[in-house]
Amino acid sequence: MCGIVGYVGNQKAAPVLIEGLARLEYRGYDSAGIAILGVGGTQVFRKVGRVRDLEASLPKRLTGRVGIGHTRWATHGPATEANAHPQTSADGRISVVHNGIIDNAAALRERLAARGVTFTSDTDTEVIAHLIARSEAGTLEAAVLDALSRVTGTYALAVIDERHPDRIVAARNGSPLILGVGDHEMFIASDLAALVRHTTSVVHLDDGELATVTTAGFRTFSREQENTAKAPTSVDIDIEEVDLAEHQHYMHKEIFDQPYSIERMLRGRLDERFGTARLDGLNLGPRELRGFRRVKILGCGSAYYAGQIGASMIEELARIPADAEPASEFRYRNPIIEPDTLYVAVSQSGETADTAFAVQEVKRKGGEIIGLVNVVGSTIARDSDGGVYLHAGPEIAVASTKALTHMATGFAMLALLLGRVRDLSISDGQRIIAGLQSLPGQIKEIVSEEAHIAAVAGGLAGAQSLFFIGRVRGFPVAREGAQKFKEVSYRHAEAYQTSELKHGPLALIDETMPTVSILPDDELTDRNLAALQQVTARNGPIVVITHPGVIDDPAIPQITVPKNESELDPILLTIPLQLLAYHAALALGLDIDKPRNLAKSVTVE
Ligand code: AGP
Repeated sequence: MCGIVGYVGNQKAAPVLIEGLARLEYRGYDSAGIAILGVGGTQVFRKVGRVRDLEASLPKRLTGRVGIGHTRWATHGPATEANAHPQTSADGRISVVHNGIIDNAAALRERLAARGVTFTSDTDTEVIAHLIARSEAGTLEAAVLDALSRVTGTYALAVIDERHPDRIVAARNGSPLILGVGDHEMFIASDLAALVRHTTSVVHLDDGELATVTTAGFRTFSREQENTAKAPTSVDIDIEEVDLAEHQHYMHKEIFDQPYSIERMLRGRLDERFGTARLDGLNLGPRELRGFRRVKILGCGSAYYAGQIGASMIEELARIPADAEPASEFRYRNPIIEPDTLYVAVSQSGETADTAFAVQEVKRKGGEIIGLVNVVGSTIARDSDGGVYLHAGPEIAVASTKALTHMATGFAMLALLLGRVRDLSISDGQRIIAGLQSLPGQIKEIVSEEAHIAAVAGGLAGAQSLFFIGRVRGFPVAREGAQKFKEVSYRHAEAYQTSELKHGPLALIDETMPTVSILPDDELTDRNLAALQQVTARNGPIVVITHPGVIDDPAIPQITVPKNESELDPILLTIPLQLLAYHAALALGLDIDKPRNLAKSVTVE
């Protein structure tokens, strides 16, 4: 989705903004632009297409040291140069970049047009630029507040003004915005990734909060103009984590990160002596944990599938009824919030609008909600009553890989903790801990089979349509496998419960329709094998994701993963599916890190 960067300091602003925008490319966008405040006034440059196209179009001498930049993902109006940001006031004095949606933009446009304002774009953002320019308030801060008092909707925005060339004013309401504190320089960004090359000292703005940044520092304040006196915090993020290193794509890098990132995530969180997990961030003691009679997990897309994996771990280990629901549905159905249910929001970005709204809905109705979130300090992390950070490091590729395995691992620890305050024995707890500790080494083994998995993927890439099947623990794995495959290879991939094949979908099976079967070595192996015969009997090609010793026929294409505890097997079974999708997309020559029509975090409805 859209990205914002801003800079004020002693460096030339343009290269800083371009580099920041390039770091936000992964979020998905269709146009980009910058506005630079220099001696002669403001210069605005906008381009449809990539940040590198924008960069190529810039004049050589662009010396201004204050500027704002934006990558736009079209919502109001098509992807055109006129609709790209920054949007400006009629006289060019005010420039604005904006993420989010202004709900009353149409009414405001009409009112402004009636007063003689001519619009040059279809955007809701242009309305804000005109409102600020027309405000009679004396300072830029007051003019921004005046304009914002007239708009309803969500925004993260950054504003520059030729009359106040020393500053950027930023505001947040429902869309993330972060200040980066440097040495006599300040940065603004909608995403940490745009800041990390410059500083790890950051300030997260809250909804309803504004900020002024100058070379002298920053001031945060409320809509009532009262200082909110935020202190910077230090973020634990390394520039290497957002660089490609030797990998061709971020998706590939992030798949190969997993052995190390999972090891980091587990560090200090496993208590071998008592066979339990230490999750201090939950802010829930044993008595409170015992009191929950149900667990409800909320997330979107792959986070929802991770939630389904988590629900079955919780049911198995803690014997508490648990289920996952897409947050995007939950928020619209006036959900019944029960006092003895533990609600869990799961999100990589912590900014997915549907999930953030679901968190608010639970809290509004007095429910207890915790977050399993990757991005530290993100909206969902801050709005939840407690939580477990995923510590996956930055995930740049649109298709989620390591965040999903971290979510599933986080759920395993939560299930262990919930189980140990109930009836799970110490020895069973220790069994799960040993399983968790084996994950990093086992993931290494799986990714070392890349060449074999790539060859299998090459065979699947030609199919127009595929089934991914699994049952019980394996079904969310199949759903995630299909999701990954369709996201990056643009092939139709549909997940089904293996048990449901014979109730309808079998009609589609023929020699052109491959089936990828999740077939672990567990209590359902024989049933799964029998179902697979129904596919092969109809000449359907198959690929089996399985454990050693399950399939003894070498003619059947298979990818084996090391066996772990059955409850944890889904974590490992997802890894070859990530590589399968990656290599199918590579074979098809597609834009793997930025699949068409998709954005990394969906911060609008
Ligand atoms: C995963 O590959 C997708 N890009 C998408 O389904 C994603 O998981 C979903 O939008 C939720 O994002 P979040 O984890 O940042 O909330």
